[in-house]
Amino acid sequence: MPFDTKLTRDLGIRIPVVQGGMMWLGLPSLAAAVSNAGGLGILTGLTQPTPEHLKEAIRETRKLTDKPFAVNLTFLPSINPPPYMEYTKVIISEGIKVVETAGSAAAAPCIAEFKKAGIYVIHKCTSIRHAKAAINKMKVDMVSIDGMECAGHPGEDDIPGLVLLARAAQELGDIPYIASGGIANGQQLAAALALGAQGVNCGTRFECTVESPMHQNIKDAMVRASEQETALIFRTMHNTARVYKNKVAEEVVAMERRPGGCEFKDIQHLVSGARGRKVFENGDVDAGIWTCGMCVGLIKDIPTCKELLETMEREAEEVIASLSRLVKPKAKL
Ligand SMILES: Cc1cc2nc3c(=O)[nH]c(=O)nc-3n(C[C@H](O)[C@H](O)[C@H](O)COP(=O)(O)O)c2cc1C
Repeated sequence: MPFDTKLTRDLGIRIPVVQGGMMWLGLPSLAAAVSNAGGLGILTGLTQPTPEHLKEAIRETRKLTDKPFAVNLTFLPSINPPPYMEYTKVIISEGIKVVETAGSAAAAPCIAEFKKAGIYVIHKCTSIRHAKAAINKMKVDMVSIDGMECAGHPGEDDIPGLVLLARAAQELGDIPYIASGGIANGQQLAAALALGAQGVNCGTRFECTVESPMHQNIKDAMVRASEQETALIFRTMHNTARVYKNKVAEEVVAMERRPGGCEFKDIQHLVSGARGRKVFENGDVDAGIWTCGMCVGLIKDIPTCKELLETMEREAEEVIASLSRLVKPKAKL
């Protein structure tokens, strides 16, 4: 049965599941597979080396799906920031209807351009105060509430999704939100809907699908991994990132924790994006840092996106139906 939430209605999708932006993996093949399966696939803007390459990727995705898909633009502290406004212009001129944004205040001018162009903006936040600022100052259409379980950047507050979503229900009023972080199955989708979310955003779960453009060895490692196998790096630099706990991540954490700590330049050679990319391409789990969330412990298979979304849809429906059986009408005496 099709879901009917603000996310499905506003975006014209069947299943309220978004595949979040994923550096190196958010390519046309994955985004199109998710959208064709009834969710919202997202191309990761900065995975394309230039705005011109992003234009090509958008056009390629359109050849693979006639369903809605989005583009992610991530604003992170950077020594040499990418030409964000150029990427923004391409997204607008290519007629993209939905954008996922994440990160720092540098997003504001680009979000203003997206809004001017009538684009639907979903902004990812890791705290209620950031969500409120995005709504009030940047006028985004929806927020994605990312608990500390998430892959990538969980923020510095360490509030788990169960609390953060309940706080969102208390604080965000009519502003729609989706649940992000730690979600890998349909029971969790139903739980997120119960907490007032309009759907869910998943990264780690889509990392481990047939269409995910990553080496089979890494997918197999994810199936073997438990929920204990992630690490938080860059903690001491207040730019925390949750990654797979491999040898490189352990070395980084050890350097950050050593007496006197370390500076970014001391670990730069370990954490470079180029090394992380090699993990996905060559299948060596320890080649560099790679992003992975705690819900990796829930992942026991490598389905196609279609199989995954069908399963999540069915599981969520079953949970929603079964919950109503827990409440009995009062017996008439
Ligand atoms: C491999 C990988 C790369 C990611 N890269 C980005 C990124 O570039 N920009 C972004 O906003 N989020 C990024 N994320 C975060 C996801 O979009 C999503 O918010 C997060 O994975 C949700 O948590 P989950 O992994 O527990 O589902 C990445 C996640 C993964 C797994």
